[in-house]
Amino acid sequence: MKALLEALAPGSADLTLARELDSGRIPAHIAIIMDGNGRWARQRNLPRVAGHKAGVPAVRATVETCAQLGVGALTLYAFSVENWKRPRAEVDTLWRLLRVYLHAELDLMMRHDIRFTAIGRLEPLPAPVRAELEDVMRTTSENRGLRLNVAINYGGRAELVDAVKALVNSGAEVTEQAISARLYTAGQPDPDLLIRTSGEMRISNFLLWQIAYAELYVTETLWPDFTRTELLRAILEYQKRDRRYGGLGADVAGVPDEALEPASLPAR
Ligand code: FPP
Repeated sequence: MKALLEALAPGSADLTLARELDSGRIPAHIAIIMDGNGRWARQRNLPRVAGHKAGVPAVRATVETCAQLGVGALTLYAFSVENWKRPRAEVDTLWRLLRVYLHAELDLMMRHDIRFTAIGRLEPLPAPVRAELEDVMRTTSENRGLRLNVAINYGGRAELVDAVKALVNSGAEVTEQAISARLYTAGQPDPDLLIRTSGEMRISNFLLWQIAYAELYVTETLWPDFTRTELLRAILEYQKRDRRYGGLGADVAGVPDEALEPASLPAR
C-alpha cells in the first residue's frame, strides 16, 4: 500500500482514491476475467488481434498496481481450454503477445519481487511459449511479493479433474483441504474478489472451486480500457461489502437472538 501511495502523483485522482482504501483489508487474492478485447477492436473497425494487443498495457498496469498495493496473489485468465476454437491466426497472435509480454515484463517482475506462475494444462502449448513460461517461472521463483498466476489453456473443470486424479492416485482421504492442496493454486488463499470486464454475467469455467466465497465485481468497461482507477474502485467497492460466508452479517452478528424476534421489531 505504501509503495502505491509513494508512486502516485500528488494531487492525482488515483491518489485520492488510494487514500480512501482500508490498508488492513486489501484483498489477499484478486482474480480477473479479462474480457472485451474483440469488442474493443470491433468498435474501432480494427481486427480482433488489435484488441488483444491493446489489452497488454492494462495487464501491465494491473500487475504493477497489485504489487504496489500488497495484494498477495493476482490470477489473470489469458486463455481458456475453449479458446483453441478461435481462428488459428488469433490463437497464434495470443501466443506471440504472451511471449512479448513475458520478455518485456521480467524486469518489472524482478523490481517488484513478483513470482510468476502459469496455471493450466501447459503441455499442448507451442514449445517456444512453454520454454519462455518455464524460464520466467524459474527466474522469479525466489521472489516473495505478489504471486502472479496467468491462466493459460486453463479450465476450472479440467483443473478439478487433474486434482481429483492426483488425489485418487495418492490414496489420501477425500477432504476439501486435500482437493485444494492439489489445485494449480495450492498453498495460495482463495480469491476474495473476482473482477470481470465487458459486462458479461458469467464465470466461464474460471477457478470454479476457489471462487466459492469470492465477491464479484462486473464492469461494462472493455479490458483494453481497464485502468488503475477502475481497479482501485473495484477494491473500494469490495471493502464496502459485508462478507458473510453463509453466516450472519456484521450488522446482526453478536446481536442477541431475542433482539431479532419479530416481537421486538417496531410496530408498523
Ligand atoms: C477476451 O476477449 C480476452 C482474451 C481471450 C485474451 C486475453 C489476452 C490479453 C489481455 C493479452 C495477452 C495476455 C497477457 C497475460 C499478456 P475476447 O476476445 O473474448 O473479447 P470479446 O468477448 O469482446 O470478443
